[in-house]
Amino acid sequence: MKLADKGAIVVGGAGSIGQALVASLREKDVRVAVLDKNPESEPVTADAGILYVRTDAADDAEAGAAIATASQWLGKIDVLINCAGLIHSEPLISMVTPSRRRHSVASWETVIRSNLTATFLASLHVAEHMAANRIKGVIVNLSSVSAAGNPGQTAYSAAKAGVEAMTAVWARELGPLGIRVVAIAPGFVDTHSTHAALSEEALKEWKRRTPLGRLGTAQEIASTVLFVLENDFISGCTIRVDGGLVI
Ligand SMILES: NC(=O)c1ccc[n+]([C@@H]2O[C@H](COP(=O)([O-])OP(=O)(O)OC[C@H]3O[C@@H](n4cnc5c(N)ncnc54)[C@H](O)[C@@H]3O)[C@@H](O)[C@H]2O)c1
Repeated sequence: MKLADKGAIVVGGAGSIGQALVASLREKDVRVAVLDKNPESEPVTADAGILYVRTDAADDAEAGAAIATASQWLGKIDVLINCAGLIHSEPLISMVTPSRRRHSVASWETVIRSNLTATFLASLHVAEHMAANRIKGVIVNLSSVSAAGNPGQTAYSAAKAGVEAMTAVWARELGPLGIRVVAIAPGFVDTHSTHAALSEEALKEWKRRTPLGRLGTAQEIASTVLFVLENDFISGCTIRVDGGLVI
């Protein structure tokens, strides 16, 4: 896809990786609508060629209304990047913390909503828009190396495995319409969310286990997204950007 003047929605675009992505897309002259539940933003604002719509993308009605607003502002939607998410660590059972022995059902639901339901709903509305308007678009979903099953991350691993499964399904369902669907699975990236979710001790251990010996950068994830958008023969796969880490 030639990116200049295309219209893109970035769900979760107010986050660390999302912001790097939005900046990279703007450098390529892509018009961008950011959908994020970030409560600090105004309900709808436009600044420097970027539309911001405050929305909970895991709510069907809100996601549908926000995508309609974005679609009207962009003219048409060529690209959807599902970058909303919530990194969460919690063991299934803990024998050492009796007060939190079982994985909380509330945190399970919150993590599934942010990572899986938001991706499902945004893709549902955007795929319908692309199909109805015969747009040969691209959907990029942010997964994680945790999709392989990271001990201590039941909900997050399950959500990201679901994201990769949906990617494979949609690539087959939507490919005949010319719509490509790809997942990107980062390893551990140097973001606020990573530092908030993991102790410095745990991060040191992850760096030790990563063959390249460091965390990734948001920019390295953003450049992979651009590569996927620009290469018209990539679909249905998950691209790992993880410094060689094997979970
Ligand atoms: N940071 C990492 O190391 C890392 C590694 C692997 C995968 N990822 C994935 O990359 C994506 C971005 O991660 P990040 O580090 O930028 O995280 P982040 O927390 O900085 O950004 C996530 C954004 O998603 C938004 N969001 C969450 N739920 C939402 C919802 N229901 N509706 C609308 N917006 C919602 C948040 O408000 C936030 O702005 C996530 O899917 C994450 O799981 C991150």
